[in-house]
Amino acid sequence: MEARLCGRALEIGGLLYRGAEAEVYEARWFCMPAVVKVRPPKPYRHPRIDELLRTRRTVAEARAMYAALRAGVSVPAVYLVDPLEKIIVMERLEGISLAHLVEADSGRALEAARRLGSMAARLHAAGVAHGDLTTSNVVVVGDEVFLVDFGLASLDADEDDYAVDVHLFMRSLESTHPDHVEDMLKSFLEGYRQVAGGDAVENLMRRVEEIRLMGRYREERRRSVWGQVEQP
Ligand SMILES: Nc1ncnc2c1ncn2[C@@H]1O[C@H](COP(=O)(O)OP(=O)(O)O)[C@@H](O)[C@H]1O
Ligand SMILES: [Mg+2]
Repeated sequence: MEARLCGRALEIGGLLYRGAEAEVYEARWFCMPAVVKVRPPKPYRHPRIDELLRTRRTVAEARAMYAALRAGVSVPAVYLVDPLEKIIVMERLEGISLAHLVEADSGRALEAARRLGSMAARLHAAGVAHGDLTTSNVVVVGDEVFLVDFGLASLDADEDDYAVDVHLFMRSLESTHPDHVEDMLKSFLEGYRQVAGGDAVENLMRRVEEIRLMGRYREERRRSVWGQVEQP
């Protein structure tokens, strides 16, 4: 069998992405194309708190991916969660991020936005908020749409969290693709409406408006969440 020929279960290749909290590497898992998302230590945190945070966030992310899967949302298959190494090994999606697709092929991007809207509605109906629903965290493979990056997801979310998802989606469009905000949002909401119904969308958008008026942005949420966790 091919998998045995690898000799090692996990082979880690080149760096694909380095963010503030995590790195993503190309990898092979029993010879299958995979990626490894790792949360490296942060020297500015107390070592014990750092260890605890990285463990918790790794496990929470994998748990949220599984909750999304159960809600009928496409996410990469999770192959391994290792809380000791702070890694998640998952299926490698050979696609293009929605952020790039908007510029490359706006017609396909509109269709992806519609699918994304339906996925968000299913996620929200299951009580899950993604927490970082930006166009960079949506990967389009052919005509399939996948959500990645569940590191800030909440499994007991409320209506404000759902509205924050939509707000973040809008803001990511505003900051990188200002010419496409209206049509992309329209498609997203069409997809959302198909799953959740018109009343749900009206209610959701009322809250989105409130959030935008209040200027309750993700950075503030993130700062307050970090503040709570990091001050023992
Ligand atoms: N399963 C995957 N397959 C292919 N690319 C991925 C996969 N997961 C993440 N990526 C790429 O790596 C980037 C960073 O991963 P992400 O989970 O969003 O990390 P961060 O929390 O640092 O934003 C994503 O925007 C995407 O381009
Ligand atoms: Mg991301």
